[in-house]
Amino acid sequence: MEDELKQILAQTASDIPAISSTPEFEQFKARVLGPNGSFTAMSKQMGSIPKEEKPAAGKLLNEYKRSLQALLDQTVARLEAETIAREVGPPVDVSLQSPTLTTGSAHLISQVRDEICSIMRKIGFVVADGPEVETEYYCFDALNTPKNHPARDLQDTYYVDPKVEFGNVSQKADERYLLRTHTSSVQIRTMLETPPPVRILSPGRCFRRDTADATHSANFNQIEALYVDKGVTIKDLKADLDYLFRSLLGKDAETRFRPHYFSYTEPSFEVDFKVGHLGKVGSEWMEIMGCGIVDPAVFEEVGYDPEVWSGYAFGLGIERIAMTLYGIDDIRYLYQNDIRLLSQFS
Ligand code: DAH
Repeated sequence: MEDELKQILAQTASDIPAISSTPEFEQFKARVLGPNGSFTAMSKQMGSIPKEEKPAAGKLLNEYKRSLQALLDQTVARLEAETIAREVGPPVDVSLQSPTLTTGSAHLISQVRDEICSIMRKIGFVVADGPEVETEYYCFDALNTPKNHPARDLQDTYYVDPKVEFGNVSQKADERYLLRTHTSSVQIRTMLETPPPVRILSPGRCFRRDTADATHSANFNQIEALYVDKGVTIKDLKADLDYLFRSLLGKDAETRFRPHYFSYTEPSFEVDFKVGHLGKVGSEWMEIMGCGIVDPAVFEEVGYDPEVWSGYAFGLGIERIAMTLYGIDDIRYLYQNDIRLLSQFS
């Protein structure tokens, strides 16, 4: 009996590697373990074996059955692996390290923007939003900068035909659309929708027809602030700007006002800042922003009573601050999105 069992096992071991599909395997298995299978025939012989030999024969049969079963189980696993490999490709070792382990982070401009917003939130400002494609009304007219006003020349921009650019949009016949030259347009949008007092901050992209060089870009980012309440004066403006710059750049940051002209503020100023600890960059006054006390003409345009309400506004370039803080000497680095540069600030 043992010889025959050995023979069945050897035959199985030599036939099995050639099996290449599940139906083939099932047929093969039936030939060995099925009702008419070769191994089953051996088990049937148990009936005719003398009683005293039965335990040894039973043990032998069990041993060979286990060995056969092991061969068959291996074949099932092999066929499954082959099916998976055919359908989904080679096996993946999920315990291997990912080749792209780098995690993304906010762009430097976004980091500085968020930082400024969080500093200003602490003194009650909320973020307001406005569109990048604006009308002349919000960008200029309502800001006391009518057609042919010389200040418009300084902010030449790209005009767009929204019907061509964006399809079917509602457009008043006499409205011209442009890419906003500053975030000051959000002042108007906010005041037309909200009764005073207001305290808003509006970060966003702006556009001008500019030739790109180390300090100019046709596409840049500003943060606008508008604070309207009873009795707001230049003192509030100066104090809040000092608070902002010291929070952002360090305790030794200083600001100074220079008289300037903006059509929507009176008086108007340009603000310079200096930060001792930033070395050479910080040791000279750097122009950073425009600001002033909201012109009564702007209040009248939006229906605020200038006899009751007063306010300050400022608009600040985010790139300039990012460049100063991190010693970046060319604005274009901020837009090239070279990961080697950006990852230094993540
Ligand atoms: N909009 C001005 C610019 O882009 C900056 C500015 C000046 C904003 C005075 C203001 C302001 O809110 O009051 O150059």
